Amino acid sequence: MANCFPFRGKKRKKLDSTIKFNEDIDSWKTVIFLYNSALKEVNTKLEILNDEFQHVHQYNPIEYFKSRIKTPESIVKKLKRYGYESSIDNMVNYVNDIAGIRIVCSFTSDIYRIAEMIGKQNDLTVVSVKDYIKNPKENGYKSYHMLVTVPIFLTDQVVDTKVEIQIRTIAMDFWASLEHKIYYKFEGNAPEYISRELKDCADIVSMLDARMLRLNEAIIQAKKENRDAEARRRSMQQAGS
Ligand code: GTP
Ligand code: MG
Repeated sequence: MANCFPFRGKKRKKLDSTIKFNEDIDSWKTVIFLYNSALKEVNTKLEILNDEFQHVHQYNPIEYFKSRIKTPESIVKKLKRYGYESSIDNMVNYVNDIAGIRIVCSFTSDIYRIAEMIGKQNDLTVVSVKDYIKNPKENGYKSYHMLVTVPIFLTDQVVDTKVEIQIRTIAMDFWASLEHKIYYKFEGNAPEYISRELKDCADIVSMLDARMLRLNEAIIQAKKENRDAEARRRSMQQAGS
């Protein structure tokens, strides 16, 4: 498959070797340029996938998605938390979510559909997956995370650049935004009753997602039965005339 790629002959690099030699403001700009380019690539892919799905199935699995580049402050904070000094090499190697995309969809089934569509993209490499839906975090957090790399084609080289993709339902997103605010408000040390309440809400969110999914399946089934009944009625009418 690799032979089909148009970048044959160009040097293919990981991001850190591109910036190793001149670690200064220019390399910072280069890195951010690469992450921005990676976001553009993945954004376009998602738009095309969603449009194609709409075209074929008359249905949008993606409600909306948004992307962001991590702020320098958050990058430094994360490196500190991981015990690394702040350098461009370290940020490229150890901070996986400098470029991040969050995809929000209606139903849990959409999450796996979208993840599968992303996984099938030949030029994306799925580096790792964390399924916090099958294995929720202790606080109740649910979401499907994929770390992918996307090749960025420069004039004389191709650089594989990391993007973290989070896929979740609207209800999971609602919960996660509130939890995030509370986490920051209490700097990670929320009172026990608040953590318990949040976990209860996470259980309600899971129940709601399951019910909405069942309801949607029932609607699809009812629509299909209507269509079938209509088709039978028409063919009986034609046979009778
Ligand atoms: P960090 O937690 O980001 O240091 O990296 P990690 O390697 O543990 O990755 P993980 O996949 O667990 O989390 C990455 C991202 O998912 C975070 O930056 C958040 O955006 C989101 N996330 C993970 N856990 C939680 C959580 O408990 N609550 C909320 N609100 N968001 C979470
Ligand atoms: Mg984490």
